[in-house]
Amino acid sequence: MGFISTTRHIMYGLAAVITTGCIGFTVNAYILYLLREDIKRLESEVSALKRELTQCDGDVTRDSRDVTRAERSRDNKQKSRDKASDTDSEEEFQLALESIPSQSILNTGAESGCTDRKCDSELLALCQNIDKDHDTLKLTEQGCEQALDTLTRLNAERPDTPQLMWRLSRIMFEKAKHNARAGLDVKDELLEALAIAKKGEELSENNSKSHLWYAILLGDTCKYDDTRVKLTKGLEFEKQVKLSLDIDPYNSTALHLIGRYSFEVAGIKWWEAKIAATLFGCVPQSSYDEALKYFLRADELNSEWVENTLFIAKCLIALGRKEEAKSWLDRVDKQGQGGVENEVQAQISELKKKL
Ligand SMILES: *[C@@H]1O[C@H](CO)[C@@H](O)[C@H](O)[C@H]1NC(C)=O
Ligand SMILES: *[C@@H]1O[C@H](CO)[C@@H](O)[C@H](O)[C@H]1NC(C)=O
Repeated sequence: MGFISTTRHIMYGLAAVITTGCIGFTVNAYILYLLREDIKRLESEVSALKRELTQCDGDVTRDSRDVTRAERSRDNKQKSRDKASDTDSEEEFQLALESIPSQSILNTGAESGCTDRKCDSELLALCQNIDKDHDTLKLTEQGCEQALDTLTRLNAERPDTPQLMWRLSRIMFEKAKHNARAGLDVKDELLEALAIAKKGEELSENNSKSHLWYAILLGDTCKYDDTRVKLTKGLEFEKQVKLSLDIDPYNSTALHLIGRYSFEVAGIKWWEAKIAATLFGCVPQSSYDEALKYFLRADELNSEWVENTLFIAKCLIALGRKEEAKSWLDRVDKQGQGGVENEVQAQISELKKKL
């Protein structure tokens, strides 16, 4: 019995899984044994599916770019708190609403990312300085290098400091973006940034940004991984963004990111999910309703984010609520599209034509 017949057995088993949707009753132990034995070869058989199962592909990180509208979001905080209390009932979504941080955290700690107990005042000042310059420095390659030098030095002086580690991973990520645009291979840089963010997350005590930057880098680096790792990273991404939102429910970037993830996951076809569950033992789950809630919440905090509006419309279309989708897209005109990427603009016009 050679490779061909083994493969055929496996394909038979897989077909049974796909058509009946019930692995327990239809696939006998023998097939399961073969599945395990030959999982590597099987992976190549379904490589076409792999490409589709990239719910946590690089897209996710394009949205990690900054949205600095802290002042307005503060005004909105009370508003969303009021709204939140009577509109959302679903357990999943409560995570963003239940753990509203105390006022003291909102005032200084959360914004400087310095909520840990270990955060002494000197470190707080250092972090505030870094953050003050970050938005300017990240714009150019030289700026990134300058910020990277500073952070690398500080990180060496104060090893294992999570507040510095997520900032270091953040600037490495920004620098990698410049290098990628210049056509360089940035895989190693990004993996190094991921390792730093991961360590920072492990060391940090309830720091929303440590979770968020670890998540952003998980999302960005999974483009280098095979499906199995992608799925695992996807689940970890979800967990980390949710942890971040538990601590800071007012970050519209985090809300948009988890929305994008939920949107991608909701788009997985049922048979793809079956295969993923069979091959990899884990499938992320979500729905367009859930994705919509995240985007709407991001919109409460930042209603000028055109790309977020676009995704609200996409969810509504997926849910068959076309009229509502249309009015959201109409709002985009009023928002003005200055500074919006061409790609976003193109998607908006295309959707409008279809509605
Ligand atoms: C949310 O977090 C991201 C990542 O650190 C940051 O760029 C953004 O400015 C934050 N948004 C708000 C509204 O605080
Ligand atoms: C971190 O959060 C957990 C769960 O919310 C809590 O039990 C723990 O006390 C927090 N730790 C710190 C240092 O705030």
